[in-house]
Amino acid sequence: MEKKATKAIAVANEKGGVGKTVTVINLAAALSMAGKSVLVVDMDPQANATKGLGIQTDDYTISIYDLIMGNDGKSVEEAVIPLPWKGLHLIPSHADLSGAEIELVDEDGRENRLKEVLSPILNNYDFVLMDTPPSLSLLTINVFSCVSEVLVPCQTHPYAFGALAELFDTIDAIREGINPDISISGIIPTLVDLRTRVANVVLDQLRTDDRYRDLVFNTMIRTNTTIAESAEVGKPVVFYRKGSNGAKDYGQLVEEFLSRG
Ligand SMILES: Nc1ncnc2c1ncn2[C@@H]1O[C@H](COP(=O)(O)OP(=O)(O)OP(=O)(O)O)[C@@H](O)[C@H]1O
Ligand SMILES: [Mg+2]
Repeated sequence: MEKKATKAIAVANEKGGVGKTVTVINLAAALSMAGKSVLVVDMDPQANATKGLGIQTDDYTISIYDLIMGNDGKSVEEAVIPLPWKGLHLIPSHADLSGAEIELVDEDGRENRLKEVLSPILNNYDFVLMDTPPSLSLLTINVFSCVSEVLVPCQTHPYAFGALAELFDTIDAIREGINPDISISGIIPTLVDLRTRVANVVLDQLRTDDRYRDLVFNTMIRTNTTIAESAEVGKPVVFYRKGSNGAKDYGQLVEEFLSRG
């Protein structure tokens, strides 16, 4: 396969339910529509990115868990599932992944397992997008050790805004300790409802705060029921309902993302 200058990107936020998985799925899908080849790596034991891309547990025998644990010498190439949309690929997760943290506790180099697993194929894609669980677990640290960029979905809610500072501190610590190349490259306002006062207040805070304002995307992802519906049917919203606000917002996000370079 042709070698590419791959960008490996984590979508992360220790807060739960802020739109990480939906962002991974739809960023990947919209990038593939723009002609890019994309690998999604699902590093959350909830496997929501796997399901949201239409893949059920019965559809595969090798998950990221097997690769990280080195089970039966399974190769990473075998684990990649080509999805029914041109350019999109997935390494699925599995509920077993929740045990990996404990199983690896005494292993040397445990925070670099994912990096080692992905290294043979990392340069086969334009983008590798990684979904993370809502906690700073060993799984998340494995993701942070092999990406250069972190995209942060931030729900336009005061608690989510408050939690951002902690995430920035975490990434600073990772840069100093594990991965000197990592930085937060963007903040994506999600679940935005401009009819509410809090959404407007939080957007304003994001766009004026010295730490965040240069990172915040102009594009916002509005709250849109079609997004939840599309996750349910296992299709990215950009393919499921092209005319929906969800599809428009993620389409626009990718345009802005690509224009940032
Ligand atoms: N813009 C949106 N409009 C409406 N529903 C949304 C939107 N974004 C996400 N959702 C829904 O909100 C829920 C949480 O979204 P998602 O799973 O992407 O968050 P998450 O940050 O990955 O959560 P977790 O921390 O549990 O992994 C899901 O049911 C999803 O379908
Ligand atoms: Mg998720």
